[in-house]
Amino acid sequence: MPPQPDPDAAAAGSVPNTDQADAWNGDDGRHWVAHRQRYDAMMRRLTHLLDATAVSAGERVLDIGCGSGETSCAAARAAGDGTVLGVDLSGPMLGEARSRAEREGLDNAGFEHSDVQVHRFAAASYDVAMSRFGVMFFDDPAAAFANIARALRSDGRLAFLCWQDAGRNEWIVTMAGALAAHVALPAVDGDAPGPFSLADPDRIRELLVRAGFADVSITPVAEPMRLGSDLDDVMDFVRDMGLVRTLLADADEATTGKAFDAVRAALAPHHSADGVVLGSAAWLVTARRTAA
Ligand SMILES: C[S@@+](CC[C@H](N)C(=O)[O-])C[C@H]1O[C@@H](n2cnc3c(N)ncnc32)[C@H](O)[C@@H]1O
Repeated sequence: MPPQPDPDAAAAGSVPNTDQADAWNGDDGRHWVAHRQRYDAMMRRLTHLLDATAVSAGERVLDIGCGSGETSCAAARAAGDGTVLGVDLSGPMLGEARSRAEREGLDNAGFEHSDVQVHRFAAASYDVAMSRFGVMFFDDPAAAFANIARALRSDGRLAFLCWQDAGRNEWIVTMAGALAAHVALPAVDGDAPGPFSLADPDRIRELLVRAGFADVSITPVAEPMRLGSDLDDVMDFVRDMGLVRTLLADADEATTGKAFDAVRAALAPHHSADGVVLGSAAWLVTARRTAA
């Protein structure tokens, strides 16, 4: 039986991460759904997360910011007669996740449209909480990780992937470097919600310990990421990326054209028979819930 929606969820009501909810239910969600197979392929080498969670039969798993559900479905297969609940802010991405679980006949996977930061999970009701790049967008990460800790049983396992500093990620350095010649890159507040908000391992450790986790381990994971088959394919993707759309929102047509030409030229040396492949750098974070 799949995990049932928590009737209190509606009562929990408010979504504190309103900007993120708007983005993931708007253009960002549409973009991720349109490119879901590409994103899953880009992250396919990042199997470290599933290895680290080591879900076994009968376990109850929470997938935080589950998006289109690839990791939820993988965990559901490993959990056997256990259960997986994927929680996400994005209606469109959850639609994909539900279809995927149905297609794969995984009736032990359920999905909830909610904000993990405030969702009223039943206390101590999960053995494992996991996330593939879904934990960097909380406006109050201390509250969010405390909420996740409460949902885990004593000794329950937490494992997630988050990005290291943008400067260590060749995929972003290459694109941002090319764009910077044509548009001003905004100053980034490193701690603000966004893909690189957990780049600092000291910050991760402090947040997790304060939230009630112990045995925090933070391991670098560097894997090549295949952005697409060739330059035309990758440029279709790049043009629709949220970061790129935001940067070019006020640029005129000529500037936009030059900026995309520059990105294409910067990506060209990374094109080979294997596709367009660039380096990535993430942290694999694991921790254990201390006794409640
Ligand atoms: C970068 S995507 C990763 C999606 C998925 N884990 C994957 O690997 O394909 C980040 C996801 O986190 C979700 N998210 C961000 N903040 C959230 C929150 N406060 N509660 C629930 N989901 C959230 C977004 O809606 C989005 O689906």
